[in-house]
This record gives sequence, C-alpha cells and structure tokens, in this order.
Amino acid sequence: MCGVARSGERPTIGRVAETLAKLHRNAEAADAPYIEKVRDELQASGASLEQAAAQMIANERQDYRAAYKDHAAHFLSVTPGYGRFLYEMARATKATRIVEFGTSMGISTIYLAAALQDNGGGQLIGSEMEPTKVARARAHVQAAGLADLVEIREGDALETLRDLDSVIDLALIDGAWSLYLPVLKLIEPKLRPGAVILAENAFAEDYLDYVRAPANGYIAQTLPIDEGRGNEFAVRVG
Ligand SMILES: C[S@@+](CC[C@H](N)C(=O)[O-])C[C@H]1O[C@@H](n2cnc3c(N)ncnc32)[C@H](O)[C@@H]1O
Repeated sequence: MCGVARSGERPTIGRVAETLAKLHRNAEAADAPYIEKVRDELQASGASLEQAAAQMIANERQDYRAAYKDHAAHFLSVTPGYGRFLYEMARATKATRIVEFGTSMGISTIYLAAALQDNGGGQLIGSEMEPTKVARARAHVQAAGLADLVEIREGDALETLRDLDSVIDLALIDGAWSLYLPVLKLIEPKLRPGAVILAENAFAEDYLDYVRAPANGYIAQTLPIDEGRGNEFAVRVG
C-alpha cells in the first residue's frame, strides 16, 4: 500500500501517514512564531524576497554553522505538498539510492524513504549537523517504520557526503542555502544520467547559474509547487 496520501488527500492511513501528520502539526507549532517574525521583519524592511534571501546567504557565508545552531528547535521542513512531490518523484524515477542534504527532524526523509519502500527497497543517506536533530530524526524515521531504509550521517554534509560509495538516483538539497553548489559538486560524480536533483529554497545565484547552464550537464527550471520557496528542479543529463 502506498505510504503517503495521494495528491489532494489528507494523509490518514498507515504508520507513515500518521507519523507525517503528527510531525507536520509539531512543525507548525514549533516554527510558527519564527516564521511570523521573519514575515514581519521582511515587511518592515521593505526588501523583496530575493533581497532578503541574498542577505541571508551573505550572512550564512560568514558562518553557516552558527546560523543553523539558532534553529536547533525548528523543523524548517518541507510542506505537505512538497513532501508529496518528493514521494511522487522518487516513485516516478523508481529511485533506490537517495541522498539528502539537510535532514532536520526527518520529515522530508520520511516522504522519500516511504517511496523507497513502495519502490521495493533501497537506501536513503541523510545528513544533518545538529546532533539533537539527528537523534529526533532517527526516532521519527523509526516511528514511521522506515529505519531499515535510512542512514542519517551526523556532521557537516561537506564531510559526511564525501566519498559516497554508490550511484545516486535522486538528491534533495535542503541544507544551508549558501552550500547548495558545493554540495552538488561534491555528489556530482555519483549522479547517474537522468538523476533528479530537487532543491528547496534554492536562492543562491551560484547554484541557479550552475544548474541552468546546459554546459554543466543539467537541465533545470523552477517549479511552482510552493510559490516563493525556490523549488528548483534539475535533471542530470551530462
Ligand atoms: C531546511 S532544514 C531541512 C528540512 C528537512 N529537509 C525537512 O524537510 O524536514 C535545513 C537543515 O540543514 C541542516 N544543515 C545546514 N547546513 C548543514 C551542513 N553543512 N551539513 C549538514 N546539515 C546542515 C540544518 O541544521 C537544518 O536542520
């Protein structure tokens, strides 16, 4: 049976769906005050979303570890709609090897691992540098009944995703915004022809310029799944 709800339905069936529904509720409760504060600050500043994202990336480039330390209690997760899209993409590509940059509490991980399970098996390698999040993500993946399919590597993805030992069918890039291009280049040698790279919050110009330049071996475009959230879709064709 499919692990997550079909598009447009509420996730109501099974362990995966129940775990995701609970986690999305917890994420809403934990992150709402922060998201509201960011919205208020953006409105007060008069800056555009692009300008605010550029500023955030510039700040991150000073010290991305410190920037995310402040978010140890935040989920910062994909939306249910984007989660369904992750599941659908992993099913459509018949993915068996998935890599994730930025696991946080494991919500996106569960959508992707559910697809692996429904594809007949495989492995997802996640990465998260905040130790308390790693522990919580592992517990959530366990609660969803998907632990056998998931390895979450603790530490900086620039180290933990080095030297992956197998080809990659699908990658989710959803960690520090300033590291999208370095992480892509790190995993690039392992991307199989036709591999799908899904980037959430893809605002870094260097990343967008790179995947949109055909000479680099990708075709890419922004998808209107969650407007304003920089949903960049790329396929490895080189
Ligand atoms: C937007 S959240 C990920 C949300 C998650 N994909 C989900 O949908 O549930 C980004 C996460 O990336 C982590 N992160 C940022 N930079 C990282 C790095 N260099 N290595 C590993 N994790 C990193 C942060 O600690 C944060 O938890």
